[in-house]
Amino acid sequence: MNWSVPLTDVRITDDDVEAVLRCLRSGWLTMGPNVQAFERGFAEYVGAAHAVAVSSGTAALHLAAIAAGVTPGDEVIVPNLTFVASAAAARYCGATVVLCDSLGPTDLNLDPDDVRSLITERTRAVIAVHFMGYAAEVEALRALCNEHQLHLIEDTAQGLGARTRSGAMAGTVGELGCYSFFSKKQLSVGEGGMVVTDNPDLAARIRLLRSHGMTSVTWDRHLGYAESYDVVDIGFNFRMDEPHAALGLSRMPRLDEDTASRRARVRQYRAALAAHPAITIPWSDRDVACSSHFAFPILLPDRRTCDRLRLGLAAVGIQTTAYPAISELSAYQTGNRVGAARSTELAQRHCVLPLSPVMTEADVETVVTAVFEVLEVDGAAQSGRAAAIN
Ligand SMILES: Cc1ncc(COP(=O)(O)O)c(C=O)c1O
Repeated sequence: MNWSVPLTDVRITDDDVEAVLRCLRSGWLTMGPNVQAFERGFAEYVGAAHAVAVSSGTAALHLAAIAAGVTPGDEVIVPNLTFVASAAAARYCGATVVLCDSLGPTDLNLDPDDVRSLITERTRAVIAVHFMGYAAEVEALRALCNEHQLHLIEDTAQGLGARTRSGAMAGTVGELGCYSFFSKKQLSVGEGGMVVTDNPDLAARIRLLRSHGMTSVTWDRHLGYAESYDVVDIGFNFRMDEPHAALGLSRMPRLDEDTASRRARVRQYRAALAAHPAITIPWSDRDVACSSHFAFPILLPDRRTCDRLRLGLAAVGIQTTAYPAISELSAYQTGNRVGAARSTELAQRHCVLPLSPVMTEADVETVVTAVFEVLEVDGAAQSGRAAAIN
């Protein structure tokens, strides 16, 4: 499909291409100096003591769940409204996924009160997701987890660069923060992920597990720091390779600028769509400055209107998406405990509109015009829109 306004877009500069070419020309492609430099730069950016680069956000969550000691028989509380990888991390470890509710239409993130109501003696961890790039209530969740001796893992795959209520970088309030560098994310390199923590023991365990539980890696042996290795844990190959790290390092200095562009487009969307009687825009204007805007969701009155809007926008070349609730997915019909009613309903009536740092004001205007047309607004909404645009 040749979208006139795609859901998202990435700008790779000549400097990025040169950075990857330099890496390729160096002849060292597996985990090495670029990965180490990316880890150092990333830890500094988010303000964490340790950062461990891995092959994806999913791998980051999987290793974080293992490091948090999640084992068969445990329960892990995960929002019902998220991407499946948040829940899969618990299932990989043989745990039961306990799906918690969203706060509501003005905040799609997980509800700390619902989390509290779902804690049992089997609960091991809570995975808080910074959905769409808006920070979840991780300070409240941290206090709750401390009270019940639970591990708090922050799924920050969508939240890199967002600030939490206390002003911390999303991903650094819990014990372990997991990020994704998938091509749609704020810092995209294709595929990649990162785990951050202030706990040196957790960092060391994750480092070990990402590379087969081996006591030395190929780069150490190449440098002559080690001649052989032992395998001291049952690990994985979740390593990040050098070209991906080189691209991440090259793109990272532009992350704040990209986030600022996302915020500008979100402000434009919010101003233009606020007047539409059928549209609810989650979160508030005040939240825009501390969010990193992975995506821009709107809520429609019901699923039928939502479907109508998505089909209508697709017909004019505008790509949208939506997240099915985890409780609706075929593979998650068993093995879960569901305490989530609001989130199922919100999943059915949200629509994610195009957003990227590459989008222009004109692109947003195209989308807004199409939204109004598809929803066949009444006169009042039209004049509200005219006022918002002028
Ligand atoms: C909330 C959330 N968690 C985890 C992931 C998994 O990240 P990755 O695609 O890098 O494995 C994603 C993105 O795809 C996501 O949106």
